[in-house]
Amino acid sequence: MPLFPNRQAKIGPLLAAEPDEARKVQVRTEQIAMVTQPRGQLAEQFRSLRNSIIALNPEGAPRSIVMTSALRGEGKSVATINLAIAMAEIQGARILMLDADLHHPAMERYLGLPRRQGLTELVRGTCPMDRAIRATSIPNVSILGPGELPHNPSELLGTDRVTTVLGQLKQRFSYILIDTPESMTISDAALLGSLADGIVLVVRLGSTPRQYVEQTYNTLEAMGGNVLGTCLTGARIEDTSARYAER
Ligand SMILES: Nc1ncnc2c1ncn2[C@@H]1O[C@H](COP(=O)(O)OP(=O)(O)OP(=O)(O)O)[C@@H](O)[C@H]1O
Ligand SMILES: [Mg+2]
Repeated sequence: MPLFPNRQAKIGPLLAAEPDEARKVQVRTEQIAMVTQPRGQLAEQFRSLRNSIIALNPEGAPRSIVMTSALRGEGKSVATINLAIAMAEIQGARILMLDADLHHPAMERYLGLPRRQGLTELVRGTCPMDRAIRATSIPNVSILGPGELPHNPSELLGTDRVTTVLGQLKQRFSYILIDTPESMTISDAALLGSLADGIVLVVRLGSTPRQYVEQTYNTLEAMGGNVLGTCLTGARIEDTSARYAER
């Protein structure tokens, strides 16, 4: 058992990705319901969440959306990937999954991909965008991994370069879904939320105390974020719903 199972093993500095290397890697992780059970109820709920998001953007402008939660392990990373795949079903959509969880990145692991240079190097200007972004085996879905995990993620994410990079990404993609750490103990999601167009709050039903969700919501909004709605995870299937634009 590795000491830090979420910190994927790597030896030496991360390499930049080879073009198209991730295209051949099929997604096999069971939790990615959009791939493993695309006709199941869970997949339908992600399509429903997708439809709600798209309905809030009738002009079809490029949008960046932060996915966060109050606590760890509520299902953010799995939800980000499933939602990205659901969004890519829309004709003409080009989706980027951005793993901006520089504390416990998981996206590459869920997709079965090797760790590569990514967000950190892009923000530092040491890796060009074309080498940091990888196309995946899912049509029209690309990934920008976290890259090297910095000692101080908040410092990195707080630089003006992040705003510039997000702006450049919006010129290439119609939706950028940004996976982030939990909000109650780490400020990164609130920071990114203030830069993004919207925030989806992932909530594990029957587990996260209501006051934590409310506190998180208030913090994200106080920081200038626009909380669009919630994505409920972990319920019995008939109870699970992706609610959106509740206000
Ligand atoms: N809709 C769901 N229903 C039930 N379990 C889920 C659901 N989505 C994710 N899980 C499970 O919950 C666990 C955590 O999922 P995930 O890694 O997506 O959470 P996270 O919020 O990103 O965690 P972290 O805070 O560590 O980044 C995983 O074991 C995953 O299989
Ligand atoms: Mg995660």
